[in-house]
Amino acid sequence: MRILLTGSKGQLGRCFKDRLPEDWEVIAADSATLDITDAAAVLNMARSFQPDAIVNAAAYTAVDKAESEREKAFTVNGTAVHNLAAAARTVKARFIHISTDYVFNGLGKTPYTEASLPDPAGVYGKSKLAGELLALAAHPDSLILRTAWVFSEYGNNFVKTMLRLAAERSELSVVNDQIGNPTYAGDLAQAVIDMLRSPAVPRGIYHFCGDKPVSWYEFAERIFQTADHNPAFKTPVLRAINTEAYPTPAPRPPYSVLDCSRIRTESGIEPSDWQKALGRVVEQLTEQAV
Ligand SMILES: NC(=O)c1ccc[n+]([C@@H]2O[C@H](COP(=O)([O-])OP(=O)(O)OC[C@H]3O[C@@H](n4cnc5c(N)ncnc54)[C@H](OP(=O)(O)O)[C@@H]3O)[C@@H](O)[C@H]2O)c1
Repeated sequence: MRILLTGSKGQLGRCFKDRLPEDWEVIAADSATLDITDAAAVLNMARSFQPDAIVNAAAYTAVDKAESEREKAFTVNGTAVHNLAAAARTVKARFIHISTDYVFNGLGKTPYTEASLPDPAGVYGKSKLAGELLALAAHPDSLILRTAWVFSEYGNNFVKTMLRLAAERSELSVVNDQIGNPTYAGDLAQAVIDMLRSPAVPRGIYHFCGDKPVSWYEFAERIFQTADHNPAFKTPVLRAINTEAYPTPAPRPPYSVLDCSRIRTESGIEPSDWQKALGRVVEQLTEQAV
C-alpha cells in the first residue's frame, strides 16, 4: 500500500511511522516538505506519488492559541483538510482524517456517539468540525476518527507537561471537573493502520479513544503513580481544583467522553488501553530524564 502521510513529525505522525507495515511505501511529509494549506502543492504531490491513501496527521493543535489565531486554525484544520480530501478524490485514494472530542460542548452526561450533535465551544473545536464537514464534502468516502487527550513519547502532551512540572515543583494543582479519555497516539496509529487494512473500506465518522474516562487530576495521579516506580522520581503533592480556579483562553468541555462502540462492533478495534501504554511512555520519559 502507498501512503501519503502529512504531519509526520507530530505525535500521531511519528507513532504511525514507527508502526508502518514493512511492505507499505510511505511519503512522510512534514510542514517543511508539504504545507497542507498549499492546495497546488498537495495536488502535485498526490498526482506524482499516486497514493492508495492520504493519512492526515497534520493539524493546528494549540487549543488556547486558536482563540487569538482563528484564521490560522481554520486554514489548517478546515481549508487544508479540504485540499487533502479533494486531492485524494482526484487520484482515487482513500482519505483518513483525525478529529477531536472538542467538537462537543461537553454539557452531556453520557458518552457521545457518532450520532450526537456537535456543538464546539472554542475556536479549535469549531475549526476541527469545519474540517470534518469539508472532508466529507470533498470526498464523501473519507474516514474520520475522532479522538481525545492524545499522549505519547513524542511532542508536547499532558504526560510530558506533568513530568516536567514534577521536576520543577513540589506541589501541583490540576483540574478535577473536566472528564475525558486519554488516548495513546500509538494505539490511534495502529487503529488507522488496521482500518486501512480492512477489506471493506470504512467510511464516515468513528470514535476512537482510551478505554477509561478520567479527569485531568486523575490522569495526573495515574502518571505520578506510574513514575513513582523510578526511585529517582520525586512525586509532588497533587491538589484537585475546579475549572474556575484555572481559567484558560479557550473554554473546555466539562465532559467529552466518547463512545467507541461503533469502531469495536464494525471493525473489531478495541479502545486504547491507555494505562498500559502510559506505563511504557512514562518509563521511557523518566529514564531519559535521569
Ligand atoms: N493532541 C491531542 O490531545 C488531540 C486530541 C484530540 C484530537 N487530536 C487530533 O489528533 C491529530 C494528531 O494530533 P497530534 O497530537 O499528533 O498533533 P501534533 O503533535 O500537534 O502534530 C501536528 C503536526 O501538524 C503539523 N502541521 C501544522 N500545520 C501544518 C501545515 N500547514 N502543513 C503541514 N503540517 C502542518 C505540525 O508541524 P509543525 O510543528 O512543523 O507546525 C505538527 O507536526 C490532530 O488532527 C489533532 O487535532 C489531538
